[in-house]
Amino acid sequence: MVIKMKIDTIKTQADNALMPTYAHFPVSIEKGNGATFIDSEGKEVIDFGSGIGVNSLGYNNEGWITAVTEQLKKVQHTSNLYYNSTVAEFADALCKKTGFDRVFLCNSGAEANECAIKLARKYSFDKYGENRYNIITLVNSFHGRTMATITATGQEHYHKFFDPFVQGFKYVESGNTEQFLKMADDTVCAIILEIVQGEGGVVPTDFEYLKTVEKVCREKDILLIIDEVQTGMGRTGKLFAYEHAGIKPDVVTSAKGIGNGLPMGACLCTEKCANVLTAGTHGTTFGGNPVACAGAKYILNTLTDEFLVEVAEKGDYIREKLCEIEEVNSVSGLGMMIGIELKTKNASEIAKKCSENGLLILTAKNKLRMLPPLVITKEEIDKGLEILKSFLED
Ligand SMILES: Cc1ncc(COP(=O)(O)O)c(C=O)c1O
Repeated sequence: MVIKMKIDTIKTQADNALMPTYAHFPVSIEKGNGATFIDSEGKEVIDFGSGIGVNSLGYNNEGWITAVTEQLKKVQHTSNLYYNSTVAEFADALCKKTGFDRVFLCNSGAEANECAIKLARKYSFDKYGENRYNIITLVNSFHGRTMATITATGQEHYHKFFDPFVQGFKYVESGNTEQFLKMADDTVCAIILEIVQGEGGVVPTDFEYLKTVEKVCREKDILLIIDEVQTGMGRTGKLFAYEHAGIKPDVVTSAKGIGNGLPMGACLCTEKCANVLTAGTHGTTFGGNPVACAGAKYILNTLTDEFLVEVAEKGDYIREKLCEIEEVNSVSGLGMMIGIELKTKNASEIAKKCSENGLLILTAKNKLRMLPPLVITKEEIDKGLEILKSFLED
């Protein structure tokens, strides 16, 4: 049972205590099931955002809750100075399922990218010595909010207020092979990119470009780092989105859906980087927490080939339905990572109206954005799309 409470009371309390870093929607999520939750006033709401691509198995997933609570009853934290069987089993399962050799477990996407950045710099330092530290990143990318990852983020407005920024990042336009070739000189140790730029407006990276980047990286021993924080763990209908492009990175970062809401990030690497970050060169207190690992192991087992096919099919179904709406100009993304460009209406205003009328939908730049729980049902999709349609055809 949800205890009803006025949103204004919650809003006042939160706004008086929390730093004003977020433009909150006036919705309080109190109790959920699948892709549907009950808000503080007892109203049912369809969730097309899943906490920005995090709650991949939706709310109240029985198997995941059992895995997490069973672990909670055993041990909640060990410190990374000691072993734990759940952590060991999860790390082993993750490496085997993804085909990578080693993983560093942390707590967020930014931390996973920090790890990848440090790994790339040290890989190069160990092998080539000083001054080969530059990292190429793409214009319009998003890699996190820490000092290094906002610097890696290729969007000007993140590069304000916090000077001095971290040195050694160079920006190239996505899809511009010539620019990349010019930039990829002997001062460069890595390139980091997203397969679909999520925060940048659900913009896919050209597959031919990715293949060229991969080839050049191999030739020059530049590490190819793919940021799969938003695109990974089944979101696009593949375990990782780079599989769509037929490439294989040296390093891949993951977060969001890997934990289904418990904080988790992962930086995975191939054999050649496996022993770069040694004892004392990197670490975290909470990373690889046994409770998060128990849940993540359950999620990993859920992401079968069959499940991923269903994700792709649901994505296709949503796209088809969206394309029937007159106001929709184009639909971008892969699988259940969907950007919706409108013809005349303002995406933020539509998202606000939806949030007041039983549907949460995200925005990215000038688009509406959908990142529904991967387990969303057809009924929930139809119900949510009806609400969206009512405002798009208004
Ligand atoms: C592609 C990408 N990388 C990194 C991040 C940062 O992840 P976190 O907010 O967990 O630090 C995000 C978050 O939206 C992301 O979309």
